[in-house]
Amino acid sequence: MTNMDTIRASYEADLALVEDSKMLGDFWTKYLSKSGEIQKLMGGIKSVPKEEKKAYGQAVNEVKTWAQGLYDAKKEEMDKKAMMARYDDETIDVTLPAASTGAGNLHPLTCIKNEIIDVFAGMGFEIFEGPEIEDDDHNFTRLNVLKDHPSRDMQDTFWLTEDLLLRTHTSPGQIRVMDKGELPIKVLVPGKVFRSDSDATHSPMFSQMEGLVVDKHITLCDLQGMLDQFVKALFSDEAKTRLRPSYFPFTEPSVEVDVTCFKCGGKGCSLCKGTGWIEVLGGGIVNNRVLENCNIDSNEYSGLAFGIGIERIAMLKYGINHMGKLFENDIEFLKQFKA
Ligand code: PHE
Repeated sequence: MTNMDTIRASYEADLALVEDSKMLGDFWTKYLSKSGEIQKLMGGIKSVPKEEKKAYGQAVNEVKTWAQGLYDAKKEEMDKKAMMARYDDETIDVTLPAASTGAGNLHPLTCIKNEIIDVFAGMGFEIFEGPEIEDDDHNFTRLNVLKDHPSRDMQDTFWLTEDLLLRTHTSPGQIRVMDKGELPIKVLVPGKVFRSDSDATHSPMFSQMEGLVVDKHITLCDLQGMLDQFVKALFSDEAKTRLRPSYFPFTEPSVEVDVTCFKCGGKGCSLCKGTGWIEVLGGGIVNNRVLENCNIDSNEYSGLAFGIGIERIAMLKYGINHMGKLFENDIEFLKQFKA
């Protein structure tokens, strides 16, 4: 019995010293495991006189229950402490300023493309996209650029085979739309085009936006009216357009479209090389031969077409002096164009 009192005393003293879960584990081994002090008390019953065995057993059981109770309480206290420590550790200060996510922005070419589409969509144009690999027929022949005709040299072509090529302009889209046989037509054909050409204002790959309208009584006035709205929306309300005679095999008459210089307003400066005008695109009235090539009766229908160079518009609008900048993906350069 005295032994039991000693054990109770040392049990309490030892438990009071326990500070962490490792110490609690050691404590459990020392007292509560199969070979622990409390279990040993049970073994001691052998040397107890018969008449005292019952009382001894009861006393040992009492010690056991008491010891387990203290242990459980200590464990609960320690678990709680550990949880509180974790709470403190993991607390988030929701009032701290958030880390910046560095939101991106659209590429300037995408912005210009979207702006152009917006303007023409407002006039009722739909979008059509054709393939980047074309055949001779769509890219040249049916657009009235006949084999061995000198006009083929206007565009330096990347040939893939005798017949296949990387399209040199978005104009083959005109043929593909007219071939559908649905009239009237009012489409925009955006896309990448390819020419073997490279300097400050040319790149082997660039983007165009083709426009095609086919209906009854379409004239050059319609073309000028649409393009006038387009440059006013893209550059400024004061911008004026002027048509100059030009040549494309697929339009007749053909025009080059100039806009009043948006840097000097038409007085003449370095951007417009003193002329007051800047060339922005080519266009014209669809050549009757092209209509006939697509089985459209040119006595009944007429069309207008234009081709806008998207990089050129972006360079003019943003004052970019080298086309390569639009393809280098230099993030510091691109960050400047917040749409
Ligand atoms: N396809 C011509 C070019 O790439 C532009 C153009 C399109 C001209 C439509 C007239 C009509 O240069």
